[in-house]
Amino acid sequence: MSFDRNIKIAPSILAADFANFGAECEAIEAQGADWVHVDVMDGHFVPNITFGPATCAAIRKHIKGVMDVHLMIAPVDPYIDAFAQAGADVITAHVEAGPHIHRTLQAIRATGAKAGVALNPGTPAEAVAHLLDLTDLICVMTVNPGFGGQKFIDMSAKIRALRAMIGDRPVHIEIDGGVDAKTAPLVAQAGADVLVAGSAVFRGGSVGDPTAYGKNIRDIRAAAEGVYA
Ligand code: DX5
Ligand code: ZN
Repeated sequence: MSFDRNIKIAPSILAADFANFGAECEAIEAQGADWVHVDVMDGHFVPNITFGPATCAAIRKHIKGVMDVHLMIAPVDPYIDAFAQAGADVITAHVEAGPHIHRTLQAIRATGAKAGVALNPGTPAEAVAHLLDLTDLICVMTVNPGFGGQKFIDMSAKIRALRAMIGDRPVHIEIDGGVDAKTAPLVAQAGADVLVAGSAVFRGGSVGDPTAYGKNIRDIRAAAEGVYA
């Protein structure tokens, strides 16, 4: 996985047809997705349950590019190896999920996966100040995690603070929650490069007719890239 700061669109399969994950992953990649974002929820760290490592391993076969696994679970450490073996390229844990995020990031990197750290809306940028050399991606939540389709919460000030803290380090800034063609420019302008979008990518399309996915992805990308024009 090479590093760059170009805009990358990462559709979240939380908004896909859960009975057709394989075909949905193939459809979004064919329609221009850069990464596939996979939301793992445990009904404990967040008030919703999705799926675990076995599902990740099953869908891995249908993803050619980056599988970006967002763990909304606590504890995290006992499951890191299972998600790495499932083929995750990026494994992201929440700073709020336990007292030892430093150890968690070391453990993720030890598997060979890229290590991500996520911040809930209420958590300040400073929470990752001492983790910058241990992380490959900082995920700024722009909704409270647990559900797709929620209203975007403006975290531009936090994104700018993180972008300044990161400096020249090869660390992605990912935005997750309520990203669409309207909100994408705000976060891109502030310094984000990976845009997760669930409902805004999957709306209007289906596995059988995925052309809307492509239009939605292009609209979000154009809106984000437009801020540099
Ligand atoms: C929220 C998840 C997100 C979610 C985004 O807890 O982490 O990835 O699927 O969905 P939208 O884009 O619909 O807000
Ligand atoms: Zn997510």
